[in-house]
Amino acid sequence: MDHFLYRDGILHAEDVPLPDIAAAVGTPFYVYSTATLTRHYWLFDEALVGLDHLVCYAMKANSNQAILKLMAGLGAGVDVVSGGEYARARAAGFSGERIVFSGVGKTASEMHAALIGGIRQFNVESEPEMRALSEIAVSLGLTAPVTVRVNPDVDARTHEKIATGKSENKFGIPIGRAREVYAEAAALPGIEVVGIDVHIGSQLTDLDPFREAYLKVAALTRQLRADGHDIRRLDLGGGLGIPYERSNLAPPLPTEYGAVVHETVGDLGCEIEIEPGRLIAGNAGILVSSVIYVKSGEGRDFLILDSAMNDLIRPAMYGAYHDIVPVVEAAPGAEPHPYDIVGPVCESGDTFAKARSMPPVAAGDLVAFRSAGAYGAVMSSEYNSRPLIPEVLVQGDQHAVIRPRPTFDEMINRDTIPEWL
Ligand code: LLP
Repeated sequence: MDHFLYRDGILHAEDVPLPDIAAAVGTPFYVYSTATLTRHYWLFDEALVGLDHLVCYAMKANSNQAILKLMAGLGAGVDVVSGGEYARARAAGFSGERIVFSGVGKTASEMHAALIGGIRQFNVESEPEMRALSEIAVSLGLTAPVTVRVNPDVDARTHEKIATGKSENKFGIPIGRAREVYAEAAALPGIEVVGIDVHIGSQLTDLDPFREAYLKVAALTRQLRADGHDIRRLDLGGGLGIPYERSNLAPPLPTEYGAVVHETVGDLGCEIEIEPGRLIAGNAGILVSSVIYVKSGEGRDFLILDSAMNDLIRPAMYGAYHDIVPVVEAAPGAEPHPYDIVGPVCESGDTFAKARSMPPVAAGDLVAFRSAGAYGAVMSSEYNSRPLIPEVLVQGDQHAVIRPRPTFDEMINRDTIPEWL
Protein backbone atom coordinates (compact mmCIF):
# COMPACT_ATOMS: atom_id res chain seq x y z
CA MET A 1 0.00 0.00 0.00
CA ASP A 2 1.24 3.50 -0.73
CA HIS A 3 -0.02 7.05 -0.38
CA PHE A 4 -0.21 8.05 -4.07
CA LEU A 5 -3.92 7.96 -4.78
CA TYR A 6 -6.37 9.71 -7.09
CA ARG A 7 -8.71 12.18 -5.47
CA ASP A 8 -11.32 13.84 -7.66
CA GLY A 9 -9.45 12.49 -10.66
CA ILE A 10 -6.09 14.02 -9.69
CA LEU A 11 -3.13 11.94 -8.46
CA HIS A 12 -1.99 13.10 -5.03
CA ALA A 13 1.08 12.47 -2.89
CA GLU A 14 -0.63 12.09 0.50
CA ASP A 15 -2.77 15.29 0.63
CA VAL A 16 -0.82 17.24 -1.99
CA PRO A 17 -2.07 17.33 -5.61
CA LEU A 18 0.87 16.52 -7.89
CA PRO A 19 0.08 19.38 -10.32
CA ASP A 20 0.74 21.78 -7.42
CA ILE A 21 4.24 20.39 -6.95
CA ALA A 22 4.82 20.41 -10.71
CA ALA A 23 3.84 24.09 -10.79
CA ALA A 24 6.20 24.87 -7.89
CA VAL A 25 9.32 22.94 -8.93
CA GLY A 26 8.86 22.18 -12.63
CA THR A 27 9.11 18.71 -14.17
CA PRO A 28 10.58 16.15 -13.99
CA PHE A 29 10.90 15.54 -10.25
CA TYR A 30 10.85 12.74 -7.69
CA VAL A 31 8.36 12.89 -4.85
CA TYR A 32 8.35 10.71 -1.74
CA SER A 33 5.69 10.03 0.87
CA THR A 34 6.65 10.20 4.54
CA ALA A 35 3.64 8.07 5.48
CA THR A 36 4.63 5.27 3.09
CA LEU A 37 8.28 5.30 4.15
CA THR A 38 7.24 5.18 7.79
CA ARG A 39 4.70 2.43 7.21
CA HIS A 40 7.21 0.25 5.40
CA TYR A 41 9.79 0.63 8.15
CA TRP A 42 7.22 -0.39 10.79
CA LEU A 43 6.10 -3.40 8.73
CA PHE A 44 9.61 -4.84 8.99
CA ASP A 45 10.02 -3.85 12.61
CA GLU A 46 6.73 -5.56 13.51
CA ALA A 47 7.58 -8.64 11.41
CA LEU A 48 10.53 -9.29 13.72
CA VAL A 49 8.74 -8.69 17.02
CA GLY A 50 9.78 -11.32 19.53
CA LEU A 51 13.36 -11.30 18.26
CA ASP A 52 16.07 -8.94 19.41
CA HIS A 53 16.44 -7.07 16.12
CA LEU A 54 17.52 -3.99 14.20
CA VAL A 55 16.13 -2.97 10.81
CA CYS A 56 19.13 -1.44 9.01
CA TYR A 57 17.78 0.59 6.09
CA ALA A 58 19.96 -0.06 3.01
CA MET A 59 20.53 3.55 2.01
CA LYS A 60 21.80 2.64 -1.44
CA ALA A 61 18.10 2.53 -2.39
CA ASN A 62 17.62 6.20 -1.56
CA SER A 63 20.19 8.18 0.37
CA ASN A 64 18.67 11.64 0.45
CA GLN A 65 19.54 13.21 3.80
CA ALA A 66 15.89 13.94 4.60
CA ILE A 67 14.95 10.30 4.14
CA LEU A 68 17.89 9.20 6.24
CA LYS A 69 16.89 11.62 8.99
CA LEU A 70 13.36 10.22 8.88
CA MET A 71 14.69 6.66 9.19
CA ALA A 72 17.07 7.61 12.01
CA GLY A 73 14.16 9.22 13.85
CA LEU A 74 12.10 6.04 13.53
CA GLY A 75 14.87 4.12 15.30
CA ALA A 76 16.28 2.34 12.26
CA GLY A 77 19.86 1.30 11.80
CA VAL A 78 21.48 1.78 8.42
CA ASP A 79 23.48 -0.31 5.97
CA VAL A 80 26.23 1.61 4.15
CA VAL A 81 28.53 0.50 1.33
CA SER A 82 30.98 3.37 0.90
CA GLY A 83 32.75 6.13 2.74
CA GLY A 84 30.25 8.54 1.23
CA GLU A 85 27.32 6.56 2.57
CA TYR A 86 28.99 6.34 5.98
CA ALA A 87 29.39 10.12 5.99
CA ARG A 88 25.75 10.53 4.97
CA ALA A 89 24.63 8.26 7.81
CA ARG A 90 26.59 10.23 10.37
CA ALA A 91 25.36 13.55 8.96
CA ALA A 92 21.77 12.32 9.24
CA GLY A 93 22.23 11.53 12.92
CA PHE A 94 22.87 7.77 12.96
CA SER A 95 25.25 6.87 15.77
CA GLY A 96 28.09 4.51 14.87
CA GLU A 97 26.32 1.84 16.93
CA ARG A 98 23.56 1.76 14.31
CA ILE A 99 25.72 1.62 11.17
CA VAL A 100 26.69 -1.63 9.45
CA PHE A 101 29.29 -1.42 6.68
CA SER A 102 28.81 -3.81 3.72
CA GLY A 103 30.55 -4.11 0.36
CA VAL A 104 33.22 -6.19 -1.37
CA GLY A 105 35.77 -3.45 -1.84
CA LYS A 106 36.10 -1.36 1.30
CA THR A 107 39.23 0.74 1.03
CA ALA A 108 41.72 1.38 3.82
CA SER A 109 40.56 4.97 4.18
CA GLU A 110 36.90 3.91 4.39
CA MET A 111 37.68 1.35 7.10
CA HIS A 112 39.82 3.88 8.94
CA ALA A 113 37.06 6.50 8.92
CA ALA A 114 34.43 4.05 10.15
CA LEU A 115 36.66 2.73 12.93
CA ILE A 116 37.41 6.24 14.16
CA GLY A 117 33.83 7.46 13.73
CA GLY A 118 32.20 4.41 15.29
CA ILE A 119 30.67 1.35 13.70
CA ARG A 120 28.31 -1.43 14.69
CA GLN A 121 30.02 -3.99 12.47
CA PHE A 122 31.86 -4.52 9.23
CA ASN A 123 30.35 -7.19 7.00
CA VAL A 124 33.63 -8.58 5.69
CA GLU A 125 33.64 -10.26 2.29
CA SER A 126 37.13 -11.73 1.87
CA GLU A 127 40.26 -12.74 3.73
CA PRO A 128 42.42 -9.93 2.29
CA GLU A 129 39.80 -7.42 3.44
CA MET A 130 39.73 -8.99 6.91
CA ARG A 131 43.52 -8.85 7.21
CA ALA A 132 43.64 -5.23 6.06
CA LEU A 133 40.89 -4.32 8.53
CA SER A 134 42.73 -6.04 11.37
CA GLU A 135 45.91 -4.13 10.60
CA ILE A 136 44.15 -0.78 10.51
CA ALA A 137 42.29 -1.50 13.75
CA VAL A 138 45.51 -2.52 15.51
CA SER A 139 47.27 0.63 14.28
CA LEU A 140 44.46 2.66 15.88
CA GLY A 141 44.48 0.64 19.10
CA LEU A 142 40.95 -0.56 18.31
CA THR A 143 39.16 -3.82 17.59
CA ALA A 144 36.85 -4.10 14.59
CA PRO A 145 33.52 -5.90 15.16
CA VAL A 146 33.05 -8.23 12.22
CA THR A 147 30.58 -10.56 10.58
CA VAL A 148 31.76 -12.58 7.59
CA ARG A 149 29.45 -12.47 4.60
CA VAL A 150 28.93 -16.00 3.43
CA ASN A 151 27.84 -16.91 -0.06
CA PRO A 152 25.34 -19.75 0.40
CA ASP A 153 25.17 -20.70 -3.29
CA VAL A 154 21.41 -20.20 -3.45
CA ASP A 155 19.53 -19.18 -6.57
CA ALA A 156 17.56 -16.06 -5.67
CA ARG A 157 15.49 -16.39 -8.86
CA THR A 158 15.73 -12.72 -9.66
CA HIS A 159 17.28 -10.60 -12.42
CA GLU A 160 20.86 -11.77 -13.07
CA LYS A 161 22.30 -8.30 -12.45
CA ILE A 162 20.93 -8.17 -8.91
CA ALA A 163 21.43 -11.77 -7.78
CA THR A 164 24.33 -12.05 -5.33
CA GLY A 165 24.09 -15.42 -3.60
CA LYS A 166 25.37 -17.84 -6.25
CA SER A 167 28.93 -19.09 -6.19
CA GLU A 168 29.71 -17.34 -9.50
CA ASN A 169 28.87 -13.93 -7.96
CA LYS A 170 31.62 -11.73 -6.52
CA PHE A 171 30.00 -11.53 -3.09
CA GLY A 172 30.97 -13.12 0.21
CA ILE A 173 33.10 -16.17 0.88
CA PRO A 174 31.89 -19.64 -0.15
CA ILE A 175 29.94 -21.05 2.78
CA GLY A 176 31.95 -24.25 2.54
CA ARG A 177 35.10 -22.34 3.52
CA ALA A 178 33.47 -20.43 6.38
CA ARG A 179 35.03 -22.47 9.21
CA GLU A 180 38.55 -21.87 8.03
CA VAL A 181 37.89 -18.14 7.52
CA TYR A 182 36.39 -17.82 11.00
CA ALA A 183 39.39 -19.65 12.45
CA GLU A 184 41.68 -17.09 10.83
CA ALA A 185 39.44 -14.22 12.00
CA ALA A 186 39.63 -15.43 15.59
CA ALA A 187 43.40 -15.36 15.38
CA LEU A 188 43.66 -11.82 13.99
CA PRO A 189 44.46 -9.28 16.70
CA GLY A 190 42.31 -6.43 15.37
CA ILE A 191 39.16 -8.46 14.69
CA GLU A 192 36.30 -9.41 16.98
CA VAL A 193 33.91 -11.88 15.39
CA VAL A 194 30.32 -11.00 16.30
CA GLY A 195 28.24 -12.94 13.80
CA ILE A 196 27.42 -14.02 10.28
CA ASP A 197 26.13 -12.01 7.31
CA VAL A 198 24.26 -13.13 4.20
CA HIS A 199 22.52 -11.27 1.35
CA ILE A 200 21.40 -13.27 -1.66
CA GLY A 201 19.98 -10.64 -3.98
CA SER A 202 17.38 -8.01 -4.61
CA GLN A 203 13.76 -7.96 -5.83
CA LEU A 204 13.09 -11.50 -4.60
CA THR A 205 9.48 -12.42 -5.14
CA ASP A 206 9.61 -15.86 -3.59
CA LEU A 207 10.43 -16.78 0.02
CA ASP A 208 12.04 -20.14 -0.73
CA PRO A 209 15.53 -18.80 -1.55
CA PHE A 210 15.50 -16.83 1.73
CA ARG A 211 14.44 -19.96 3.60
CA GLU A 212 17.17 -22.03 1.95
CA ALA A 213 19.87 -19.45 2.69
CA TYR A 214 18.78 -18.81 6.29
CA LEU A 215 18.70 -22.54 7.05
CA LYS A 216 22.28 -22.77 5.83
CA VAL A 217 23.18 -19.82 8.07
CA ALA A 218 21.47 -21.51 11.04
CA ALA A 219 23.47 -24.70 10.49
CA LEU A 220 26.66 -22.67 10.17
CA THR A 221 25.85 -20.80 13.40
CA ARG A 222 25.67 -24.10 15.29
CA GLN A 223 28.86 -25.33 13.69
CA LEU A 224 30.81 -22.15 14.41
CA ARG A 225 29.58 -22.07 17.99
CA ALA A 226 30.77 -25.65 18.37
CA ASP A 227 34.14 -24.44 17.03
CA GLY A 228 34.19 -21.92 19.88
CA HIS A 229 33.11 -18.70 18.12
CA ASP A 230 30.74 -16.28 19.80
CA ILE A 231 28.09 -16.01 17.07
CA ARG A 232 25.61 -13.61 18.61
CA ARG A 233 24.41 -11.59 15.64
CA LEU A 234 22.98 -12.57 12.25
CA ASP A 235 22.69 -10.04 9.44
CA LEU A 236 20.20 -11.51 6.98
CA GLY A 237 20.56 -8.87 4.26
CA GLY A 238 17.79 -7.22 2.27
CA GLY A 239 16.13 -8.20 -0.96
CA LEU A 240 12.41 -8.55 -0.44
CA GLY A 241 10.73 -7.54 -3.70
CA ILE A 242 7.94 -5.08 -4.39
CA PRO A 243 5.01 -5.22 -6.81
CA TYR A 244 6.18 -3.19 -9.80
CA GLU A 245 3.37 -4.41 -12.00
CA ARG A 246 0.16 -3.92 -10.16
CA SER A 247 -1.71 -6.34 -12.37
CA ASN A 248 0.70 -9.13 -11.38
CA LEU A 249 0.77 -11.34 -8.31
CA ALA A 250 2.15 -9.43 -5.35
CA PRO A 251 5.43 -10.59 -3.76
CA PRO A 252 5.33 -11.87 -0.16
CA LEU A 253 4.65 -9.36 2.60
CA PRO A 254 7.17 -8.38 5.28
CA THR A 255 5.10 -10.37 7.81
CA GLU A 256 5.50 -13.51 5.70
CA TYR A 257 9.21 -12.80 5.35
CA GLY A 258 9.40 -12.27 9.13
CA ALA A 259 7.78 -15.67 9.64
CA VAL A 260 10.60 -17.24 7.60
CA VAL A 261 13.16 -15.47 9.78
CA HIS A 262 11.46 -16.73 12.96
CA GLU A 263 11.16 -20.25 11.53
CA THR A 264 14.76 -20.56 10.31
CA VAL A 265 16.94 -18.66 12.79
CA GLY A 266 14.51 -17.65 15.54
CA ASP A 267 15.64 -20.29 18.02
CA LEU A 268 19.34 -19.39 17.98
CA GLY A 269 19.17 -16.55 20.50
CA CYS A 270 20.94 -14.25 18.05
CA GLU A 271 20.32 -10.59 17.54
CA ILE A 272 18.82 -10.29 14.04
CA GLU A 273 19.63 -7.53 11.57
CA ILE A 274 17.97 -7.09 8.19
CA GLU A 275 18.92 -4.62 5.45
CA PRO A 276 15.84 -3.78 3.39
CA GLY A 277 16.16 -0.94 0.91
CA ARG A 278 13.75 -1.36 -1.98
CA LEU A 279 10.73 -2.38 0.06
CA ILE A 280 11.06 0.66 2.30
CA ALA A 281 11.67 3.27 -0.40
CA GLY A 282 10.46 1.79 -3.70
CA ASN A 283 6.74 2.33 -3.51
CA ALA A 284 7.23 5.40 -1.35
CA GLY A 285 8.33 7.42 -4.37
CA ILE A 286 7.22 8.33 -7.85
CA LEU A 287 8.77 10.24 -10.72
CA VAL A 288 6.58 12.91 -12.29
CA SER A 289 7.26 13.95 -15.83
CA SER A 290 5.62 16.00 -18.58
CA VAL A 291 4.80 14.87 -22.09
CA ILE A 292 6.79 17.05 -24.49
CA TYR A 293 5.45 15.63 -27.74
CA VAL A 294 3.29 12.84 -29.01
CA LYS A 295 4.96 11.75 -32.22
CA SER A 296 3.47 9.43 -34.80
CA GLY A 297 5.99 6.88 -36.03
CA GLU A 298 5.88 3.91 -38.38
CA GLY A 299 3.04 1.84 -36.95
CA ARG A 300 3.49 3.28 -33.46
CA ASP A 301 3.09 6.43 -31.45
CA PHE A 302 5.92 7.75 -29.30
CA LEU A 303 5.28 9.56 -26.07
CA ILE A 304 8.32 11.79 -25.66
CA LEU A 305 8.75 12.78 -22.02
CA ASP A 306 10.95 15.35 -20.34
CA SER A 307 12.46 12.63 -18.12
CA ALA A 308 14.99 10.21 -19.52
CA MET A 309 17.26 7.27 -18.80
CA ASN A 310 19.61 9.56 -16.89
CA ASP A 311 16.81 10.28 -14.39
CA LEU A 312 15.53 6.70 -14.04
CA ILE A 313 17.87 4.12 -15.50
CA ARG A 314 16.13 0.94 -14.35
CA PRO A 315 14.19 0.26 -17.58
CA ALA A 316 17.30 0.78 -19.75
CA MET A 317 19.62 -1.12 -17.42
CA TYR A 318 17.50 -4.07 -16.31
CA GLY A 319 14.56 -3.98 -18.70
CA ALA A 320 12.62 -3.07 -15.56
CA TYR A 321 8.90 -2.41 -15.64
CA HIS A 322 7.43 0.69 -14.01
CA ASP A 323 3.75 1.54 -14.06
CA ILE A 324 3.29 4.84 -15.91
CA VAL A 325 0.00 6.59 -15.23
CA PRO A 326 -1.54 9.93 -16.15
CA VAL A 327 -1.63 12.40 -13.26
CA VAL A 328 -5.08 13.58 -14.33
CA GLU A 329 -7.27 10.53 -14.54
CA ALA A 330 -8.66 9.81 -18.00
CA ALA A 331 -12.33 10.47 -18.67
CA PRO A 332 -14.42 7.35 -18.08
CA GLY A 333 -14.64 5.32 -21.26
CA ALA A 334 -11.44 6.76 -22.80
CA GLU A 335 -9.96 4.01 -25.00
CA PRO A 336 -6.43 2.98 -23.91
CA HIS A 337 -3.79 3.51 -26.56
CA PRO A 338 -0.41 1.75 -27.06
CA TYR A 339 2.61 4.08 -26.77
CA ASP A 340 6.35 3.67 -26.94
CA ILE A 341 7.33 5.83 -23.98
CA VAL A 342 10.74 7.43 -24.40
CA GLY A 343 12.97 10.22 -23.14
CA PRO A 344 14.88 12.91 -25.05
CA VAL A 345 18.36 11.35 -24.62
CA CYS A 346 20.18 10.59 -27.86
CA GLU A 347 20.19 6.83 -27.78
CA SER A 348 17.57 4.21 -28.52
CA GLY A 349 18.13 2.65 -25.09
CA ASP A 350 16.38 5.69 -23.68
CA THR A 351 13.09 3.83 -23.78
CA PHE A 352 10.91 3.39 -20.70
CA ALA A 353 8.31 1.10 -22.25
CA LYS A 354 7.27 -0.29 -25.60
CA ALA A 355 3.67 -0.60 -26.80
CA ARG A 356 2.49 0.32 -23.31
CA SER A 357 -1.24 0.61 -23.18
CA MET A 358 -2.40 3.71 -21.37
CA PRO A 359 -5.22 6.23 -21.56
CA PRO A 360 -4.67 8.79 -24.33
CA VAL A 361 -2.41 11.67 -23.29
CA ALA A 362 -1.39 14.89 -25.02
CA ALA A 363 1.58 17.24 -25.02
CA GLY A 364 1.78 19.12 -21.73
CA ASP A 365 0.10 16.36 -19.71
CA LEU A 366 1.76 15.05 -16.55
CA VAL A 367 2.53 11.36 -16.11
CA ALA A 368 3.87 9.51 -13.08
CA PHE A 369 6.22 6.54 -12.89
CA ARG A 370 5.25 4.47 -9.89
CA SER A 371 7.63 2.49 -7.69
CA ALA A 372 10.49 4.89 -8.38
CA GLY A 373 11.52 5.71 -4.80
CA ALA A 374 14.27 3.08 -4.68
CA TYR A 375 17.22 2.99 -7.10
CA GLY A 376 15.76 5.99 -8.95
CA ALA A 377 17.33 9.29 -7.89
CA VAL A 378 20.42 7.54 -6.50
CA MET A 379 21.26 6.00 -9.87
CA SER A 380 20.66 9.14 -11.88
CA SER A 381 23.32 11.08 -13.75
CA GLU A 382 23.73 14.24 -15.76
CA TYR A 383 24.18 12.44 -19.07
CA ASN A 384 23.39 14.73 -22.01
CA SER A 385 24.04 17.57 -19.51
CA ARG A 386 20.61 17.18 -18.06
CA PRO A 387 20.85 18.51 -14.48
CA LEU A 388 19.86 16.13 -11.67
CA ILE A 389 16.15 16.45 -11.07
CA PRO A 390 14.69 17.73 -7.80
CA GLU A 391 13.48 15.50 -4.99
CA VAL A 392 10.46 16.50 -2.94
CA LEU A 393 9.21 15.05 0.34
CA VAL A 394 5.54 15.18 1.28
CA GLN A 395 4.05 14.85 4.72
CA GLY A 396 0.28 15.27 4.92
CA ASP A 397 -0.50 18.53 3.17
CA GLN A 398 3.08 19.83 3.34
CA HIS A 399 5.78 19.42 0.78
CA ALA A 400 9.43 20.45 0.74
CA VAL A 401 12.19 20.29 -1.83
CA ILE A 402 14.82 17.98 -0.31
CA ARG A 403 17.26 18.32 -3.21
CA PRO A 404 16.93 21.28 -5.54
CA ARG A 405 17.48 21.17 -9.28
CA PRO A 406 20.92 22.64 -10.01
CA THR A 407 21.03 25.54 -12.44
CA PHE A 408 22.98 25.12 -15.66
CA ASP A 409 25.68 27.36 -14.19
CA GLU A 410 25.96 25.23 -11.06
CA MET A 411 26.32 22.15 -13.22
CA ILE A 412 28.89 23.76 -15.52
CA ASN A 413 30.89 25.38 -12.74
CA ARG A 414 31.68 22.06 -11.11
CA ASP A 415 34.18 21.57 -13.94
CA THR A 416 37.47 23.41 -13.72
CA ILE A 417 39.67 24.51 -16.61
CA PRO A 418 43.44 23.91 -16.35
CA GLU A 419 45.43 27.12 -16.45
CA TRP A 420 47.22 26.10 -19.65
CA LEU A 421 44.00 26.23 -21.65
N1 LLP B 1 22.24 -5.38 1.59
C1 LLP B 1 23.18 -5.54 0.65
C2 LLP B 1 24.49 -6.07 1.04
C3 LLP B 1 22.90 -5.21 -0.69
O1 LLP B 1 23.83 -5.38 -1.61
C4 LLP B 1 21.62 -4.69 -1.03
C5 LLP B 1 21.30 -4.34 -2.41
C6 LLP B 1 20.68 -4.53 0.00
C7 LLP B 1 21.02 -4.88 1.29
C8 LLP B 1 19.31 -3.97 -0.25
O2 LLP B 1 18.56 -4.79 -1.08
P1 LLP B 1 17.01 -4.44 -1.36
O3 LLP B 1 16.26 -4.67 -0.07
O4 LLP B 1 16.94 -3.01 -1.77
O5 LLP B 1 16.61 -5.35 -2.42
N2 LLP B 1 19.97 -1.15 -8.59
C9 LLP B 1 19.20 -2.39 -8.53
C10 LLP B 1 19.23 -3.01 -7.16
C11 LLP B 1 20.63 -3.31 -6.64
C12 LLP B 1 20.64 -3.88 -5.26
C13 LLP B 1 22.02 -3.95 -4.73
N3 LLP B 1 22.14 -4.41 -3.38
C14 LLP B 1 17.78 -2.11 -9.00
O6 LLP B 1 17.48 -0.98 -9.39
O7 LLP B 1 16.96 -3.02 -9.05
